[in-house]
Amino acid sequence: MAEAGSFAEKVKQQADIVRVVGEYVRLRKTGQNFTGLCPFHQEKTPSFSVHPVKQMYYCFGCHEGGDVFKFVMKMDRCEFPEAVRTVAEKCGIPIPRATERSPEERLQNQQRTTLVDIHREAAAFYARQLHQSNEGKVAMAYLEDRRLDREATVWFGLGYAPGSGDALLRYLKSKYPEKVLDPSGLFSRDQGGRMFDRFRRRIMFPIANDSGKIIAFGGRSMGGDMPKYLNSPETSVYSKSNVLYHLDRAKESIRQNDFAILVEGYMDAIAVARAGIANVVASCGTSLAEPQIKLLSRFTRRIVVNYDADAAGQSAVERSLTLLLEKEFDIRVLTLPGGADPDQYVKQNGSDAYRKLLGAAPSYLDYLIARARKTDRSTAVGKLTAINFLMPYVQRVPNALLRSEWASRISSELRVDEPVLRESIRRAAAERRGDVRPRPELLAPAVAPAERRLIQMLAEHNGIRERLAREIADNQLHCGLEFEKVFEVLISCAASNQALDPAAVAESLTEPERRILFEAVFETSADANWDEAESCLAVLRQRTVSHELVEELAELQKKIESKLPFDELKRLLARRQELQRRLIGLPASQAGG
Ligand code: UTP
Ligand code: MN
Repeated sequence: MAEAGSFAEKVKQQADIVRVVGEYVRLRKTGQNFTGLCPFHQEKTPSFSVHPVKQMYYCFGCHEGGDVFKFVMKMDRCEFPEAVRTVAEKCGIPIPRATERSPEERLQNQQRTTLVDIHREAAAFYARQLHQSNEGKVAMAYLEDRRLDREATVWFGLGYAPGSGDALLRYLKSKYPEKVLDPSGLFSRDQGGRMFDRFRRRIMFPIANDSGKIIAFGGRSMGGDMPKYLNSPETSVYSKSNVLYHLDRAKESIRQNDFAILVEGYMDAIAVARAGIANVVASCGTSLAEPQIKLLSRFTRRIVVNYDADAAGQSAVERSLTLLLEKEFDIRVLTLPGGADPDQYVKQNGSDAYRKLLGAAPSYLDYLIARARKTDRSTAVGKLTAINFLMPYVQRVPNALLRSEWASRISSELRVDEPVLRESIRRAAAERRGDVRPRPELLAPAVAPAERRLIQMLAEHNGIRERLAREIADNQLHCGLEFEKVFEVLISCAASNQALDPAAVAESLTEPERRILFEAVFETSADANWDEAESCLAVLRQRTVSHELVEELAELQKKIESKLPFDELKRLLARRQELQRRLIGLPASQAGG
């Protein structure tokens, strides 16, 4: 796509793909390549690699690959010209004017650039109001009362929107026409169509995108004015669900620490960051939105959710958990004692106390189980309620290994029989398949139904598994199967009369082998008997036979092609026909015509 001599080609020659990709994916140098977790599919172990010499990326898991532009187009969901500009910007390559494709696009880009300029100027205006105006003194006193000193207000860019109703408008009108200011979200119109300031008598929190450009504001009232926080509306530069407050300042630290702390509010993020814990972001409002999770996953997949301890905060935690689970985040949940939000807690107890709680935050699983335990479980109905509370989360865990962990934990903690629970997890998993399209890496590789069933029997059916294991091992029926290794471990488990621990066994297996094993463990339903086992074994025996047939045929073919006496050739041709017929399943006796 980068035509010779074009700007795109120049960018491609000068750009460093490792650096560009590195802004989206945490890369580690392995040999001459760099590897990381693939941003195009969910994965736990890196199969995504970037080749600095070839300037290419490729994922061995989902087979996505291409050059630096394709990468940015996919990540930013943008068109080629925008990707070229992005790469140029990231690599400090000067962009010639007017590289936009169409006049409309140029117009839109200009408008966005202007809106960002307007926001920068507005932030500077609000800051001056806070620090230099008389009216701002009250606001500053309010902030100091909340333990934010001058230094902090400057660092976080806080400001003050005066009460007059058109202070910002008057200031900006000298620089921009009304119709340019209109779509900024900073102004409203009265019924007569007259413009006025949207934010009045409020402490202003600038909201930046992840590259640090201010694109919106949150404004807190100081008295009891409602709403407590008034936020910018959606504009062409701001979409609430695409932004995490403080991410621009937090991203380096998130990468370094490989985890993020998620809080609810502006003040919480500021308090935690000021406590020296920089890897904190705020979702600004109730629960986390999917695009915000996607954004965060560019920097880490580990998160500590630290929402307010009130009912609203806790139900926001639960809503956020389901989404985070689907994206395979490693999640811990911190609920601060005494119903405090992070801001209050840090103020009252200091940053060391907060750090300590942070380090001890339980995994989401422990958190949810503790919540479930609060229900009365003395009756069957009570237990059911607890399980019903937990089940939606189980349903969202894409990984079979983790679901298995869930089953054991829940059954022991809630004292529910494991088989009953496994059955409902199995059902939950089956339902999950109904509404979620399986991702490529979750699709089981093709395995013959008989083999799959045998694996199930070996893993789960105590009545026959020993005899089955012996039968297979003695006749080497599993040799040469794609999942020979799975049979091997199961056979040795059965032989030593050990109960199967899938998690432990999985250690020695490859990913596809693991998949087969866990699916088998989770999908067993019908009871097995020896007759069924026999019919599955027959398939393996048949396979062995056909294997031999193929080999014999190949031998024959060689002989046939060599120079042979006529009679001998005739005999071999007949033999070949017989073998061929047997191979496609015709009984040899009927074939002799
Ligand atoms: P909170 O009500 O918990 O506010 O809302 P807070 O962060 O603790 O702020 P202080 O300490 O009372 O000043 C959490 C977040 O929810 C959003 C804001 O982003 C806020 O920071 N929110 C809250 C709104 O957008 N509008 C509201 O009216 C209230
Ligand atoms: Mn709060």
